[in-house]
Amino acid sequence: MKALLISRDTQLYAEIASQGAARVPPLNVAASRASLRDALERPLSDSPSLIIVDISDADADAADGDLLERLTRHYSAAHFMLLTDNHHPDLLIRAMRAGVREVLQLPLVHRALHEAIDRIAASAGVVALRDGKILAFIACKGGSGATFISTNFGYALATLADKKVLLIDLHRQFGDATLYVSDQKPAMTLSDVCQQIARIDGPFLESCLVHVAPGFGVLAAADDPGQTTEAKPEHIDTILRVARQHYDYILLDVGRQIDAVSLRALDGTDAIYPVLQLALPDIRDARRLLDIFRSLGYVTDHIRLIVNRYEKGGKLRLQDLHAALGAEVLHTVPNDYIAVTDSVNQGIPVLQLARTSAAARSLADLVEVVASRRIPEAKGLFDRLFGRGEDD
Ligand SMILES: Nc1ncnc2c1ncn2[C@@H]1O[C@H](COP(=O)(O)OP(=O)(O)OP(=O)(O)O)[C@@H](O)[C@H]1O
Ligand SMILES: [Mg+2]
Repeated sequence: MKALLISRDTQLYAEIASQGAARVPPLNVAASRASLRDALERPLSDSPSLIIVDISDADADAADGDLLERLTRHYSAAHFMLLTDNHHPDLLIRAMRAGVREVLQLPLVHRALHEAIDRIAASAGVVALRDGKILAFIACKGGSGATFISTNFGYALATLADKKVLLIDLHRQFGDATLYVSDQKPAMTLSDVCQQIARIDGPFLESCLVHVAPGFGVLAAADDPGQTTEAKPEHIDTILRVARQHYDYILLDVGRQIDAVSLRALDGTDAIYPVLQLALPDIRDARRLLDIFRSLGYVTDHIRLIVNRYEKGGKLRLQDLHAALGAEVLHTVPNDYIAVTDSVNQGIPVLQLARTSAAARSLADLVEVVASRRIPEAKGLFDRLFGRGEDD
């Protein structure tokens, strides 16, 4: 899709051009004009499908409703997107009347920009890509079972529900997710993808995975954090955006470190599943984790607990957990020492190795719960803190 940007702000141009280039298919900012008048005086011979107008400029021309109307008439087939700093309410009304449907706040929130481009691309018939859900598994305590559950759930989702699934191991150190379900050594890791982030598209991402089953691949964590490219939050944004377009589900094995990268990943998730065992130390750590989320402004309505190694009749009950943590329990996975230990030791998914085991059956149930459930809308941290993106 081709775009024209009307703005004097060269930094904004660079920002939109690089965000556009990272999309699949790319949005090509083919030209820019300094002002509405400039755009009218020097029209493009090849009409763009999207015209982005920055109306924040103090220069009066930028907010001139007549010029904007003339431009919408000139490019009558194009979609218009306005970028505003909220200082021109009258112009916004005129713009809406002239058929402008997308208005975004400045400074630009990348997620809002991409969502707006997605809407425009969809209505222009440009994309018929997937709209994958991102589910994050996070261990409340070391050894809670987040890696076992996320990797084996990924396999179950791909093989039982016929979904295309990607699992990303976000551990900074000692990432071991591939070993739980495969004996292949990863040729590429998250770090390699970050290093070549400019190349990323669906086929490139797919080529970097350890393929566990036809619909299930794992992007391994960097195995030597000291010598590799550190993943940055913006890398994660780009990877997840591309992943959403090519997979039905993107599972994150987040580990227990809360840092800029994991927060950015969590910020874009559709659901967060803290994994814990029904014991007081786990509950304490779970509470700490939920408190961190709350202090960061996360609402907890898309956080659901998964209780691992659950045994009925224990002193602590699931209701107690709900009361202590204020989050709903999504699922329980039974304690199944033999099947799970065999599976983990051999690196073979439990569903493949011991299909009728209690652990395998429980994961199959989780597939039904997740695949048939409408996941509550999660709002990004920025959206919640600044109230953006709600009506865009
Ligand atoms: N449902 C279960 N029944 C029996 N054993 C289990 C179960 N789930 C996990 N385990 C055992 O617990 C061990 C730890 O699980 P896992 O590595 O998935 O935890 P984790 O939350 O990823 O821990 P870490 O913080 O180290 O990343 C596994 O090696 C596995 O053998
Ligand atoms: Mg783990």
